[in-house]
Parts: sequence; structure tokens; C-alpha cells
Amino acid sequence: MTAADLAPLYIVGAGRLGTALGVLLGRAGAPLLGLWSRTAQGAQRAEALGLPCAHGALPAEIGRASTVILAVHDEAVAVVAGALLDGGLLRQARTVLHCGGARPAAEALAPLAPAPCHLGTLHPLAALANHVQALRQLPTGWFAVEGDAEARAVARALAARIGAGTRIIELEAETMTLYHTAAVIASNHAVALWHGALRLFQQIGLGKEQTLAALVALLRSTVDNVETLGLPDALTGPVRRGDPATVARHLEALQRHAPELAPVYRACTAAALATARAAGTPDEALSAIAALLDRSDTPPAGE
Ligand SMILES: NC(=O)c1ccc[n+]([C@@H]2O[C@H](COP(=O)([O-])OP(=O)(O)OC[C@H]3O[C@@H](n4cnc5c(N)ncnc54)[C@H](OP(=O)(O)O)[C@@H]3O)[C@@H](O)[C@H]2O)c1
Repeated sequence: MTAADLAPLYIVGAGRLGTALGVLLGRAGAPLLGLWSRTAQGAQRAEALGLPCAHGALPAEIGRASTVILAVHDEAVAVVAGALLDGGLLRQARTVLHCGGARPAAEALAPLAPAPCHLGTLHPLAALANHVQALRQLPTGWFAVEGDAEARAVARALAARIGAGTRIIELEAETMTLYHTAAVIASNHAVALWHGALRLFQQIGLGKEQTLAALVALLRSTVDNVETLGLPDALTGPVRRGDPATVARHLEALQRHAPELAPVYRACTAAALATARAAGTPDEALSAIAALLDRSDTPPAGE
């Protein structure tokens, strides 16, 4: 299917993703009939961006769409899908897509099993904190698609319209949860770690803005290394160097100043052992660090 073959589509849900998809697909000339928001506030936000957006009861207009994208909370997808079916609003729909990354379409859209629709997943592999960020990030990002052959073709065509090109990941129903777990580790968990680091920087007296700027510069150098050298070679720091004395100092400092971060540091150091081993750090040095982690007390630095 080419982008030119896209059929009339409707986006149900005007949150971060739904609104951004509406703007980007509309800009790209996709035949967008409209959006629906549960609340007037969501509809106003979408309308301010030039999108036709209904709110309240699901509108009859959805019944004219050949492709329906459900961009509501993951927990609401099945409920809204059922309401669309029961309300006779899928009578023209050939394809229904949902946007969650953790569940295959057949499961997320289970209430549509009796409907003669192709079911699929269109999941942007991106951290969309709000619709403004999403407008910038989606056209350069990757998308994962899943579902039956026709639903995948529609999902790919939509992603192509947004600008994904060949940045498409083909998923199978049984690989979705692992795929999403990887995405959460890489993005959400990383943010939680950076937040911990930010609090430590602030404890040494840096202001919030200075801290954030310094942290972002550090992260950019890290991402640059990942991009240029790949993994595991991008790993730097005491575990990569096989330096147990520095790890012991860190554990001691955390115990004194931020004990709540000590278990996180230990868990991440354990993960870094495997990365360092793969990068070629000698086993002997890594064993000394592993032994430190096995101790329930915090050894004095230099012990
Ligand atoms: N944000 C991301 O980084 C990201 C990335 C990839 C995929 N996704 C997927 O995109 C989908 C939408 O997520 P989002 O980030 O756009 O979330 P969001 O900004 O919170 O928007 C979710 C929308 O769902 C609506 N909604 C919630 N419960 C509903 C219900 N019971 N009935 C009808 N509408 C309901 C909300 O309406 P109200 O505003 O009235 O609450 C809101 O408009 C999800 O499947 C998510 O997994 C998100």
C-alpha cells in the first residue's frame, strides 16, 4: 500500500499522541475526517491546532471512516473499541489500529473479534511527554507495527506519511511485551536514573538550572558514544575500568547522603558488570566489584 492509498481515517482520543498524529497526518495530506476527545478541554486543544475535534458522545462521523485509530489510554482501548462496535460506528471500518506497545492488537482490541475489521498496532517508539514535543519527535522517530497483513500495511502507510520512511519495526504478537519492556528500560527507567543523579548534583549545591544543563551535556556525550561506538563499547566509568575502590567510595557516599539510591546504584552496577565484561574488562577486576555488591554492609573506601 502506498501513502496515496490511505482511506478516510478517524482518530479516537485527543491526548498527546492522538493530537500530534492528527496534526502530522493532516499536514501530510492524509484524509483525516476528525478526532474525538472525551473532554471539551481536549477538543479545544485540538481545535486550536486546526483539527476538527468532537467531544462527549462518540460522533456518527466515525462511521464514515475506513481506518480508525484508537489513541486512548491503554486501559480504555477495549472499552472504547466495544462502544464503537456496539454503537454501529465501525460499519465502514476496514482497519482499526491501537497505539499501545505492550499488547498485540488481537488482545487489546478483543471486543472487535466478531467485527469484519483488520486489527493492528501502530506504536511510536518515542517518549511523548506532551503533544508539542510529539510534533517535533514523531517525524524523525521509529514506529513499530503489528497485526494482520492488511492492518500492518495501513500502519506502515500512516507511519510513512508522518516521515518514518524505513524506520519501521515489524513485531509479532508474542514479541510485543518484550519489545515494550526494552523501550521502558531504555527511556522511562533511564529518566528515573537521571532524576536520581540530578538530586545528587543538587545536594552538592548546584542550582537546578545549572544541574540540568550539566546533566544534559553529560547525557549527550553518552548518547554520542552509543551512536558512534555502539554497545557495549560506549560504557565508561569505574566498572568499565575495573575499579572497585571507586565503587566502594560511591556506595559509602550514598549510604551517608542518599541511602534510598544505594539499592539502585547496586542494581545498576551489577548490570554494568555484564556490559563491561562484554566490552573486555578483565574478569579479575569485575569479580572484585561483584564481591563488593554481595556484601550487605558498605565497605570503607579503599578496603
Ligand atoms: N505518550 C507516549 O510516550 C506514548 C508513546 C507510544 C505510544 N503511546 C500510546 O498512545 C496511546 C495514547 O497515549 P497518550 O500518551 O496520548 O496518552 P494521553 O495523552 O494521556 O491521552 C490519552 C487519551 O485517552 C483518553 N481516555 C482515557 N480514558 C478514556 C476512556 N475511558 N474513554 C475515552 N477516552 C479515554 C484521555 O481523555 P482525557 O483527556 O479526558 O483523560 C486522553 O485524551 C496509548 O495507547 C499509549 O500507550 C504513548
